[in-house]
Amino acid sequence: MKKRVFSGIQPTGNIHIGNYLGAIKYWVASQAEYDNVFCVVDLHAITVPQDPKVLKTKTRELAGLLFAAGIDPKQSILFIQSHISAHAELAWILNCFIPMGWMQRMTQFKEKSHDLKEQASVGLFDYPALMAADILLYDTDVVPVGEDQKQHVELTRDVALRFNNIYGDTFRLPEPVIPQVGARIMGLDDPTKKMSKSEANPGHAINLLDSPETIRSKLMRATTDSLRDIRFDEGRPGIYNLLVIYELFTGLRRPEIEARFTGKGYADFKRELGEIVVEGLRPLQTRYRELTSDPTYIDSLLSEGASRARPLAEKTLAAVKKKVGLG
Ligand code: TYM
Repeated sequence: MKKRVFSGIQPTGNIHIGNYLGAIKYWVASQAEYDNVFCVVDLHAITVPQDPKVLKTKTRELAGLLFAAGIDPKQSILFIQSHISAHAELAWILNCFIPMGWMQRMTQFKEKSHDLKEQASVGLFDYPALMAADILLYDTDVVPVGEDQKQHVELTRDVALRFNNIYGDTFRLPEPVIPQVGARIMGLDDPTKKMSKSEANPGHAINLLDSPETIRSKLMRATTDSLRDIRFDEGRPGIYNLLVIYELFTGLRRPEIEARFTGKGYADFKRELGEIVVEGLRPLQTRYRELTSDPTYIDSLLSEGASRARPLAEKTLAAVKKKVGLG
């Protein structure tokens, strides 16, 4: 029996190379090894205001990008979260087993609600309960995510344990798997901040569907420092971040990369990185255009994905309801 992988991604803003290098790339690479379930989490997206038309379009775009990146519908299930009502239903039940104090410790809520203050929605606060439901519905063993989601997966384990302690063995305990390199790709404009979908500055992130010219110009303008040598030094976050992107797109080892740029300047390095990223994303972009040339194709894959995921989710939900005494 293969282990089960589950992971999710929000259809908000533009999907960037942080999402790709921190998560999607690993989902694709380990598909054959696991039994995979991937989810476009539109219910998570509405924890902050969304334009309905844009949300619907972005949901399909993201699914198309995941297939284009190499998620293979024969090896993996990919579906839209709101197509399976068990997610919202289990989230409600889990809510009743998660102490407020656990939620109040979530650093992502603190960051995301900082500017919204009292206007932050209850859904944004409760976001980790829905994420726990996503994971626990599928008897998940492994959750491959970037660094920022680790705390949420740990909360998922905690609530699963608490539920199991009360009602007996019900949920499998999931493990977060965080890549050693690329788990936290930083913003190009400010390398002290995580690359994020919601950042407004257009120079902040490279999006997966950016044109070659845009990619080159964003990288040429990326913030570095006033030093010269090109070395993997975490104390110099700008150049370090660009080197990590170079490393992940080329698969070269760090000493080889440093040797290649000995005596060269930042402009030479950025120019070469631009070509590497343009070429690295080209197959994905070509495939995306092919897949989306027939607008009904992605929808048909998604509805098939939901049909495969639904029975798995409903089985877990039924067991949970029975244990709790519902119905
Ligand atoms: P989301 O949509 O913000 O991000 C999707 C994945 O990309 C990773 N990621 C990054 N990795 C490296 N560097 C970055 N700058 C960077 N930014 C994002 C994220 O860690 C994530 O793995 N709550 C989740 C979605 C979700 C989920 C789940 C994930 C909902 N349910 C169940 C796993 C399991 C989120 O908002 O990811």
